[in-house]
Amino acid sequence: MKQHTLLMPLDMHLHLRDGLMLENIGSLSAYSFSGALIMPNLVPPVSTKEELIAYKERIKHAIGVEAADEDEFDDIGEFCDDGGFEPYMTLFYQNYDENFLADVAEELTAIKLYPAGITTNSEGGVKNFDIEEMRPTLEAMARMDIPLCVHGETDGFVMDREAEFMNIYDELATNFPDLKIIMEHITTKAAVDMLDKHANLYATITVHHLLISLDDVAGGMLKPHLFCKPIAKRPEDRAVLLKIALEAHPKVMFGSDSAPHPKEAKESCGCAAGVFTAPIALQLLCDIFEKNGKLDNLQSFVSDNAQSIYGICPEFKEVTLVQEDFKVPETYKGVVPMYAGETLAWSIEDVD
Ligand code: DOR
Ligand code: ZN
Repeated sequence: MKQHTLLMPLDMHLHLRDGLMLENIGSLSAYSFSGALIMPNLVPPVSTKEELIAYKERIKHAIGVEAADEDEFDDIGEFCDDGGFEPYMTLFYQNYDENFLADVAEELTAIKLYPAGITTNSEGGVKNFDIEEMRPTLEAMARMDIPLCVHGETDGFVMDREAEFMNIYDELATNFPDLKIIMEHITTKAAVDMLDKHANLYATITVHHLLISLDDVAGGMLKPHLFCKPIAKRPEDRAVLLKIALEAHPKVMFGSDSAPHPKEAKESCGCAAGVFTAPIALQLLCDIFEKNGKLDNLQSFVSDNAQSIYGICPEFKEVTLVQEDFKVPETYKGVVPMYAGETLAWSIEDVD
């Protein structure tokens, strides 16, 4: 039976939420990843040093807490009790002053910028991209080597939002050449072209955007659990994403954008955006890379590239996957994962 070992897998874009949801799903990422970049779009968003530190504490506490109903998780194996998992924290972008940034810098790994209202809990985001207004913050971030992670979508036609945002990436990358800018969850050929245009641009790619196109979301019966922002695009876009992921392009990292919502919030009139992949991401990635004969590149895509881009050294964790059926649970504590009830070709055998 084929098996494959990954060292220190990292998820460089993860929504862990807060409260009960955090306690219910946090361990699923902590089990198989060494660390993750934690998104700040809580209500209210994480925007002070105190909030950031307190949120990190809640995460650490939650991943040490065993789920009340362990049976539901039998298939994924045991939980790690101390986490063995580093939450790399982010702040929600606002025009912060330099003193504030200097004070908080050692607590955070990046700052996440959302255009106002573009997705879940982003109302407090950036309203208009006035480069001069943003300059003091972005120059200070560049000096302190704090990366800027960006949800790159305009409020235009939904299929064109990411492509329309390319001008803004271009402007940011040109005006702030020393600032590391991460184009989050890219979904288009336009974004891949932009990646190679500027040395200071990087990108994350989700696993769902490597697998689905808009057809899977809305081509037949509407699939609420595949609805997310940015929406999955055309097969041609997916093919380009797959190409750079499989070759483990050194400026590209895995970021799941796993975004849990309660089942009722997805299966309702007014479906919340987000695909929940945290517990199946590594199994799916193994399958994709193996089918394409590129399993040897998965280590770079899922960890090494992120370590170099962010300059992080995660704690040791060794995850062994085997080519053995894994039946995806229908729900994880009331959250429906991608491919619920279906069988995946790879499963996690062991975590050390
Ligand atoms: O689909 C999404 N869900 N995209 C985002 O950018 C945010 C996320 C969420 O927080 O639910
Ligand atoms: Zn996200």
